[in-house]
Amino acid sequence: MRRKLVAGNWKMNGNLAANSALLNELVAAVGHGASCDIAVCVPAPYLAQCQQQLVNTAVTWGGQDLSAHEAGAYTGEVAATMLADFGSHYVVVGHSERRAMHAESNALVAQKTLRALRCGLTPIICVGETLAEREGGQTTAVVGEQLEAVLAVLESADLTRLVVAYEPVWAIGTGKTATPDMAQEVHATLRGLLAARDPVAAAGTRILYGGSMKPDNARELMAMPDIDGGLIGGAALKSVDFLAIIAATSIQ
Ligand code: PGA
Repeated sequence: MRRKLVAGNWKMNGNLAANSALLNELVAAVGHGASCDIAVCVPAPYLAQCQQQLVNTAVTWGGQDLSAHEAGAYTGEVAATMLADFGSHYVVVGHSERRAMHAESNALVAQKTLRALRCGLTPIICVGETLAEREGGQTTAVVGEQLEAVLAVLESADLTRLVVAYEPVWAIGTGKTATPDMAQEVHATLRGLLAARDPVAAAGTRILYGGSMKPDNARELMAMPDIDGGLIGGAALKSVDFLAIIAATSIQ
């Protein structure tokens, strides 16, 4: 049985005061134990704040991107070792906003994934199709190519250490969600690709759904057999919504 993971993707939101209140509310509600794994992926300047407020709690933290390079003359980039220095557990890799706005290729996403794993971070690898690709019947091909590029550079042993997030681009921040059946179909495809590489490891790899997951649709999405949690954008910024999604993982 895969333990569910609910990860917040704060994107470029927050400030010290607001974060402090949000993190305190999360910790007060989930304390030191929860029925699922919980993470917040925050802008890099706030990793220290997370470390300070979340150490020894049930809420873990991580980054939203990392450099494909180890260190050196890469102005503005953040290395995997730096995320690890601040106790990060996770890092989002290949989010569609980075693929679209920063021209991140499948090959770059693969290199970043490798870098994260080698530093002991758990990469949350995002895949997903645009509306035009879905309407053109290309969903399976697009997400398949995105995942295969990553699998191509990994060892089988890495498979249990990564998290995949299916995030249809047309559902992100739009209020449009994939129906549970639509999401399950893609999740099953992704699991099939993982299984072709290593069936035992694939059974343990968590595949999250992301794209307008909210308290009112989380339960039915999470009930699907291959949906192992959520990557939550907008609803992660309000403790009541994020906590309701966390609660939805245990009401099946
Ligand atoms: P959303 O974002 O929940 O606001 O749609 C999800 C994401 O981009 O990870």
